[in-house]
Amino acid sequence: MAEKIYIFDTTLRDGEQSPGASMNLEEKIQIAEILEDMKVDIIEAGFPIASKGDFESVSEISKKIKNSTIAGLARAKLEDIDTAWEAVKHANSPKIHTFIATSPLHMKYKLKKTPSEVLEAIKVTVSHARNLCPNVEWSCEDAGRSEIEFLFKCIDLAISCGASTINVPDTVGYTLPNEFGNIFKQIKNNVPNIDKAILSTHTHNDLGLAVANSISAIQEGARQVECTINGLGERAGNAALEEIVMALKVKKDLMPFYTDIKTESITRASRLVSSITGFSVQPNKAIVGANAFAHEAGIHQDGMLKHSGTYEIMTPESIGLTQSSLVLGKHSGKNAFNKKLNELGYELGDNALMEVFGRFKDLADKKKEIFDEDIIALVGDQTTRIDDYIKFVSLKVNAGSFQKHEADLILEIDGNKKNSVASGNGPVDATFNSIKEITDVNAKLKLYQVHAITAGTDAQGEVTVRLEENEITSQAKGSDPDIIVASARAYINALNKLLIKRTKSAPDKISEVKVKGV
Ligand code: KIV
Ligand code: ZN
Repeated sequence: MAEKIYIFDTTLRDGEQSPGASMNLEEKIQIAEILEDMKVDIIEAGFPIASKGDFESVSEISKKIKNSTIAGLARAKLEDIDTAWEAVKHANSPKIHTFIATSPLHMKYKLKKTPSEVLEAIKVTVSHARNLCPNVEWSCEDAGRSEIEFLFKCIDLAISCGASTINVPDTVGYTLPNEFGNIFKQIKNNVPNIDKAILSTHTHNDLGLAVANSISAIQEGARQVECTINGLGERAGNAALEEIVMALKVKKDLMPFYTDIKTESITRASRLVSSITGFSVQPNKAIVGANAFAHEAGIHQDGMLKHSGTYEIMTPESIGLTQSSLVLGKHSGKNAFNKKLNELGYELGDNALMEVFGRFKDLADKKKEIFDEDIIALVGDQTTRIDDYIKFVSLKVNAGSFQKHEADLILEIDGNKKNSVASGNGPVDATFNSIKEITDVNAKLKLYQVHAITAGTDAQGEVTVRLEENEITSQAKGSDPDIIVASARAYINALNKLLIKRTKSAPDKISEVKVKGV
């Protein structure tokens, strides 16, 4: 009999800890809704004590989502646990996830606690969490580098204090698959009360082994996997949900497990997370990369024509990648456009639809052929931005080898139109200077990247911009057939995100803590 593997998605918590990946409340709700629709078992909605914004998003998601368990993260501190409970208590199925580091390195240098003090903290905090919430998960941070006998003791104690899930993280992505699997095997064999809890795996990708380590943990007894869409997460990221789910599905003959995930929603979820965070998916990324189902070599194409199984181990349809039948052009109306969006997996509200449709019409005037990729880029650039504080209105630039580079820009800031003319070292520099003049935000430009979305000289350019201000980073994309306009849009999108992050990190009643590097 195949056994169920519970999917615990942490895109909204560990995923959001990626440098530059910030999401506002509306965006987080959109992601939570898609995760619920995919039948994710547990959604870790955030770290409620981290900021007022985090608290608000965890509590709003708890109220809105009905079919998935909602978890809130808490350090081993009573105030963290109380705040996490306040945020998740509205959920149909709430969960408190509390953690403390158990490796010698973390205990000595980060926590400045002895092993017995850590044991005492586990006792106090897990019992406290269990008094508030029937569903408590406890994590031994940096388990991959912890002493195994000490781990046994901590896990036994956490279970006896009421934890019903024990999460074993490879926090720094240090272990090898057999090494990590062996930790689970030993826990299963040596912790007397382990049958009273579900074992969970949480891996990071520093050595590119996050998914392999999670699979190995499942083979040795883990029944919950913590993962993120597109493998988003701290540093090199977390294990990718889509890779784990599809590996279990494709290799079910060798692994007697299943998940409840509706795999046909994977593409839609991947695109949404990419457009919201501004993190592009690399073309050769497993499952959701643009080339994951592309066949270039003649010998492969020939095989595919004869039998798709020759070079495909899963169908594109199984991850929701369908060949769209509608071809759009400048005469297409709103209904046809909306139908196309639905085929591509998007459902937009009326306001967002009108905004994106307007941009589609502009694009269709400039470009002969509109590809699916163009529409995906427009949605990514626009969907979540209708309430933006700073909006792009128009741009005129002087460029070329003989001219002075000058940008004449109009932005709308909080409803008021503002204009600036600035010069610079090239048209992009001039444009960014005029944005700085209008907005008076002098963030450092940490990344500027341009790529063509499709083939052809009339292709849209997609620009990625990452900004940094006082250790806060934000990243966003912008697209347009004119790459200078695309650059302006990307910069403005990143600025809007920076403003949200600024308010989120402002000290307030809920939080005086700094949460970087959890
Ligand atoms: O990587 C980690 O150890 C974590 C814990 C908070 C579970 O993210
Ligand atoms: Zn983590």
